[in-house]
Amino acid sequence: MQAQVITLAFFVVIITFTSCYGSSSRSAELKEIWAREYNDTLAGKCTKRVPANPNNDGSPSDSATVLIEVCCKGYKPYEYDTKKCIPDCPYGCENGFCVSPNVCNCFDDHIRSHDDQCVPTCPISCLNGVCDSNGMCTCHPRHILDPFRKFCLPICHGSCGLNRYCSSPGRCSCIRGFKENLETGECDPICPLNCLNGRCISPGICACNPGYRLQDDVCQANCTSCENGKCVINEVCSCDPGYTWDLKRNKCIPVCTRCLNGFCIAPGVCKCHEGYERIGESCQPICDGGCTNGYCVAPNTCNCKGGYGRNIFGKCKRLRCHIADDTKSICGIKHLG
Ligand SMILES: *[C@@H]1O[C@H](CO)[C@@H](O)[C@H](O)[C@H]1NC(C)=O
Ligand SMILES: *[C@@H]1O[C@H](CO)[C@@H](O)[C@H](O)[C@H]1NC(C)=O
Repeated sequence: MQAQVITLAFFVVIITFTSCYGSSSRSAELKEIWAREYNDTLAGKCTKRVPANPNNDGSPSDSATVLIEVCCKGYKPYEYDTKKCIPDCPYGCENGFCVSPNVCNCFDDHIRSHDDQCVPTCPISCLNGVCDSNGMCTCHPRHILDPFRKFCLPICHGSCGLNRYCSSPGRCSCIRGFKENLETGECDPICPLNCLNGRCISPGICACNPGYRLQDDVCQANCTSCENGKCVINEVCSCDPGYTWDLKRNKCIPVCTRCLNGFCIAPGVCKCHEGYERIGESCQPICDGGCTNGYCVAPNTCNCKGGYGRNIFGKCKRLRCHIADDTKSICGIKHLG
């Protein structure tokens, strides 16, 4: 099922591109780029050491650890194959390929526009204008051609000021990585968690208040241990997404939605208990040799269906009872075929 969805999604993308260009060589070229860019399963993969045998609350029951694969910083799981990690372009990369973290390369026949998007150029189309019969851009009113004559820029009167650009005629907006401060009207840089205990001095860069130190890109206080979380104030840990605070263990533990008969070793990563295997979204018991005429309810334990009983080998066999055998145990044991 999953494979079908993946294939379908892949082809929808290809078909969309193909219909834009009406060229099958373009589709082949795109397929090749996809394969090349996203087929390197090692790219963007990092490992993380986690307890191998956690208790049900996620705390380790012994000191054994295992290495699990996670996507490195700047990478994210590939939506069509979550075992792969692909570079993350957090601001999006429409009409382009995200070739490395935060680096979006525009497709051929596309160009980077004034608002940092990949947009098609003539003869396909012209941003804020139309392509004329000579394949040149003719601008809408209140727009002018960009210096390379590939798209049309809106006109703002005067300069837009620090960290702003002219986004539409007569209107200035904050550039990427900045947001409008409603109090001052200025464009302020954006930082993760607003730096926590510091000041955001440029996009993603925090200057910490005295006594706080930069850790995982934000300014944190002192916590004895705050693994998988951020130390918001001294000895107070706020767990990262996918983790929850465990009162007994005083630490952030991963959350799995379905992990019955298993250990949750990382957010959404459930490791099945011994004797269980992952089938679909749950850990199901394994009965060696199957459970003919019954149901596998625990490792190597079959519960027989109606009219069947377990023989000494643990197999479900049809019960042959006589009316005279009035207790179930006699019926079940003595007369198995
Ligand atoms: C992905 O890489 C493997 C091994 O390098 C290769 O056999 C396979 O054909 C590649 N897949 C695509 C879609 O190119
Ligand atoms: C954290 O500990 C350091 C060194 O012990 C100290 O200088 C600093 O003030 C502490 N930070 C906070 C927020 O208390």
